[in-house]
Amino acid sequence: MSHGHIARGAAHDLRVEGTGVENESGRVLLDVQDLSVEFRTGGGVLEALSGVNLTVRQGEVVAVVGESGSGKSVTALGVMGLLGNGRVSSGRIMWDDYTDLATARPKNFRAIRGNDIAMIFQDPMTSLDPLYTVGNQLSEALRLHRRMRRREARAEAIDLLGMVGIPDPGSKVDAYPHQMSGGQRQRVMIAIALACSPRLLIADEPTTALDVTVEAQVLSLLRDLQRDKNVSLMLITHDMGVVAEMADRVVVFYAGRVAEQGTVDDILQNPRHPYTQALLRAIPRPSTPRDEPMPAIAGNVPALHEMPAGCRFADRCPLVHDRCVEQPPHVAISSEHSTACWLATDDRSSAVLEGSPA
Ligand SMILES: Nc1ncnc2c1ncn2[C@@H]1O[C@H](COP(=O)(O)OP(=O)(O)OP(=O)(O)O)[C@@H](O)[C@H]1O
Ligand SMILES: [Mg+2]
Repeated sequence: MSHGHIARGAAHDLRVEGTGVENESGRVLLDVQDLSVEFRTGGGVLEALSGVNLTVRQGEVVAVVGESGSGKSVTALGVMGLLGNGRVSSGRIMWDDYTDLATARPKNFRAIRGNDIAMIFQDPMTSLDPLYTVGNQLSEALRLHRRMRRREARAEAIDLLGMVGIPDPGSKVDAYPHQMSGGQRQRVMIAIALACSPRLLIADEPTTALDVTVEAQVLSLLRDLQRDKNVSLMLITHDMGVVAEMADRVVVFYAGRVAEQGTVDDILQNPRHPYTQALLRAIPRPSTPRDEPMPAIAGNVPALHEMPAGCRFADRCPLVHDRCVEQPPHVAISSEHSTACWLATDDRSSAVLEGSPA
């Protein structure tokens, strides 16, 4: 490891010690504030995210959940500056208190993404280059981000492959992606993400393509890395079992907005948004065969071009009432727990968070 890496690691440790509190109120690394993202398409401008707020603190695991199309990947890609034909139309993406990634100059942005923030993509096959060995791809990252020389980078690549549990890393370093199993490719993706020793790792459904045993291994690998290296993890998943196992806090997306967020206990034991409650009811039992479809929530997520003006869950909500034609504000249930539902505003113990309804 380079000296720079060691020094940076030490500085983090000091900061965490200095606060005296770890995960509950550690320092905020990523602070997404009121983020909206639009895509220009042939059919006009579509708003994929609308007023999203979320934070990730040092060393914690934040799970991001929600149905397909709810904006989980767009949030991650926004943080990574990889929105393609999309753009941030409002809001801020504060990194470590001082850089707004939504407006940062490309040069500053590149220094952060790759060095401080790394992402494991939803589909490892599309993000590994089939023409290069995994060793080449790891070395490339090490030479770029840690300025290693060729020989040093190869040795570190082998170390990293071993660290993520690839058997016989000394020979696998020369394999091409198609010569590896799906689980091994996913581990290579994790190794590449770790090559830059990030402070935040964003993992977008890192295990969907894997079978149950390998899934458990990859998740426990991510958890070990998070604990041992105090890396923050933003884990995108639609699997509430994974949430229960891994997360410190949970952010529930619905149709491009945050419906509810809180600690893992808040969300699993005391969900306040009818959507979260429905998601939890839809968890397959352990006895359910894997290929059986999840007991789905009736109805569909509204399409981007026909979002209702009020609560976006209203037409599927079992508790829908008159007020839901207006957009519900975010209501604080506790300092960590908030939900965007009119029902929570009736509760005297909760307070509407400042700002306009979002
Ligand atoms: N490049 C794009 N151009 C137009 N629309 C897009 C683009 N990328 C995403 N979207 C739209 O933005 C919305 C959110 O997509 P996103 O990929 O974030 O969903 P997701 O929550 O990650 O879903 P999944 O669980 O299926 O991965 C979807 O309606 C999607 O169609
Ligand atoms: Mg996605």
